[in-house]
Amino acid sequence: MNADTIRRLGRVAVLMGGTSSERAVSLDSGSNVLDALRTKGVDALAVDGIPALIDAIRAGSVDRVFNVLHGSHGGGEDGVLQGLLSALGVPCTGSNVLGSALSMDKIRSKQVWQALGLPTPAYRRIAIGDDVVAAARDLGLPVIVKPACEGSSVGITRVFEEGDLQAAIELAASYPGELLMEQLVVGDEYTVGILGRDALPSIRIVPAGAYYDYHAKYVAEDTQYLCPGLDGEAEAAMRALALQAFEALGCSGWGRVDLMRDRHGANWLLEANTAPGMTSHSLVPKAARATGLDFASLCLRIVADTVADREGA
Ligand SMILES: Nc1ncnc2c1ncn2[C@@H]1O[C@H](COP(=O)(O)OP(=O)(O)O)[C@@H](O)[C@H]1O
Ligand SMILES: [Mg+2]
Repeated sequence: MNADTIRRLGRVAVLMGGTSSERAVSLDSGSNVLDALRTKGVDALAVDGIPALIDAIRAGSVDRVFNVLHGSHGGGEDGVLQGLLSALGVPCTGSNVLGSALSMDKIRSKQVWQALGLPTPAYRRIAIGDDVVAAARDLGLPVIVKPACEGSSVGITRVFEEGDLQAAIELAASYPGELLMEQLVVGDEYTVGILGRDALPSIRIVPAGAYYDYHAKYVAEDTQYLCPGLDGEAEAAMRALALQAFEALGCSGWGRVDLMRDRHGANWLLEANTAPGMTSHSLVPKAARATGLDFASLCLRIVADTVADREGA
């Protein structure tokens, strides 16, 4: 990208922080993106949270937004920010209102995928007071219990015995929104980054502990990441599925799709992320690097492709 194109991006607000459960991760992502854009000569400023962004827009100091405000409820990943910015005519990276809102909600994401015949583990939506033992018997243990609208593995418990169900439900219910209980897929974990209309090489995640929990995501240095995670046809099939799943939710721009691959080699969609992590442990930057795209160039690719650019607004 030449200096002229970079100048035409104008003043870029890197939106981070906020009030979601992923605030700390988002601040880490945001400061990396800010530094990267600045090394590329982009006029970038840090903005913490949506109210501060509104002030900056009103003050006339924002031409476009690089969104790394993870999560919902004060995060920028659930469609609220996207609706606000589209109403104000401010271009923003990542997916539009629909793609963001659908991806944030794991239950609705699964409903769309199921309707299209895309593979996602069987699940039950759980409300407080439901017979959770019956639901778990229906699905068959082990299961995994999650809040429908969180991220970073918060509020998630793997359940192997009926006696542990209640505590798992209570933990998930301590977060806002609905809950789901899903069949636990035994196998390997993968993620596929999406950039523009392409799936990046898959990453196989090998946590040292039991699974890819909050600690393995952000703290542990012993989680292994293999990229590409597969080869040949298996790799091509996983990338194609991830891209199809992403686009089925109305997502665009960039993002990441999380999957499991069972012992028989079948792929299972878990969720899509529309403002994924950009920390030093994060996965989209790792996958981009495997294609020769360094972190700063990745940030530049993302910021040059906003919803407004894509939808011709
Ligand atoms: N059905 C499942 N089977 C096996 N592991 C799962 C399943 N669902 C989630 N996990 C594990 O929990 C982690 C977090 O779940 P995920 O659905 O990706 O939510 P989020 O990343 O938004 O917290 C996954 O990375 C994976 O390690
Ligand atoms: Mg995930």
